[in-house]
Amino acid sequence: MLYLVVDGFFGDTGKGKVISYLAIADKPYIVVRGGVGPNAGHTVVIDGNEYKLRQIPSGFVYERSRLLIGPGVLVNPKVFLSEVELTNTYDRVFLDYNCGIIEDIHIERERGDRYLKKKIGSTASGCGAAQSDRALRKLKLAKEIEELEKYLTDVPLEVNSALDNDEYVLVEGTQGTFLSLYHGTYPYVTSKDIIASAILSDVGVGPKKVDEIVLVFKSYVTRVGGGPLENEMSEEEAAEKNMVEIATVTGRKRRVAPFNFRYAKRAVMLNTPTQIAITKLDVIYRDTYNVKEFSKLPMEAKRFIENIEETLKIPVTIISTGPDAKSTIDRRKELGFD
Ligand code: IMP
Ligand code: MG
Repeated sequence: MLYLVVDGFFGDTGKGKVISYLAIADKPYIVVRGGVGPNAGHTVVIDGNEYKLRQIPSGFVYERSRLLIGPGVLVNPKVFLSEVELTNTYDRVFLDYNCGIIEDIHIERERGDRYLKKKIGSTASGCGAAQSDRALRKLKLAKEIEELEKYLTDVPLEVNSALDNDEYVLVEGTQGTFLSLYHGTYPYVTSKDIIASAILSDVGVGPKKVDEIVLVFKSYVTRVGGGPLENEMSEEEAAEKNMVEIATVTGRKRRVAPFNFRYAKRAVMLNTPTQIAITKLDVIYRDTYNVKEFSKLPMEAKRFIENIEETLKIPVTIISTGPDAKSTIDRRKELGFD
C-alpha cells in the first residue's frame, strides 16, 4: 500500500501534522520524504513535545518505521545530523546515495543574492543554488560525504521492494502546489517541481504503484515570501481571526487569505487526490478544538467540510482539530477506505 501526502496551497498547510497522524494510525513500514530539501519546515507535535523538522520525515513519531530520504531531495549534512540527534533515530534513518549535498557555499550564494532574498523571499537555505549546481552536474552527492556513510542506502530499491512485499509505505511531500517551479506562481516559487508526480520521482516510485493520494488544505490560505495571494487579508484582520502564523524555517510572519476554491480546484487537477485532508479547523471554528468525531462537529463546521467535498468532488477523510497528532478526525473507515 502506498500513501502519498502532498500540499494543495503554498506549503505550511500542516502536512507534518497529517503525516505524523497517519504514521501513528497506520504504522508504516517505511516513511520516505520527497521535495526540495531543508527549505521546508514540518512541525510535529506529539504528547505535548514539538519538533520542527527540515530533513527527517515527520513520520518518525512511529518508532518502528524506517525513515528514508529520496534521491531527489537535497541534504544539508549539518541539518540532517542535528535532526538525527534531536529525534534519536540513528538506527533507522537513511538517505539515498544520490541525494544532492548543500554546502556552505550554496547558502552564502543565496544570502548574497538580493533578487532571491528581497524579491522572491527565498529561505536562503542553499536549495536553489545547489539545485542549479546539480543541473550543471557539478553538485556533490551524499555518497561522496564521509560523515554520511553509515546512513546511505538505495531508497528506490527499498521502497519498491517494500511495496512488492505488500508493506505500507508513506510518502511525504514538501512545499505546496503553487510553489512548484513549473505549476506555481513563477518566479515566486521554489527551485523544483513538487506536485504529486514530482514527489514520486524524488523517491523513485512509478505512478502505477500509488494507492492513495492525500491532498492537504488548511482551512485558510497562507504564504511566506513574495508573490500573488488572492484576497489577501490585512495583518489586523488576520490577527483578529487568529490566523497569524510564524514560518518554521525563516521566522517570518505568514501572509493570510481565506480558503480559496480556485486554488483548490487547480490543486486537485494537478495532484489527482483520492482523499482530502483539512487542517486547522479549530482556527476558524473555535469549538471544534480537539474534536475527534465528525458527528460531534458543530453544524457550521460540518457544512464547511461538506461544501469542500461537494465542490471538489473528493471525500474529506482527515480533519485536524489541533496541533497534536492525536487531535484528528479520521473518517476513512466510515467513508469506505481501508
Ligand atoms: P526557496 O525555495 O527557499 O528559494 O524559497 C522560494 C519561495 O518558496 C519563498 O517564498 C519561500 O518562502 C517558499 N518556500 C520554500 N519552501 C517552503 C515551504 O516548505 N513552506 C512554505 N514556503 C516555502
Ligand atoms: Mg512549513
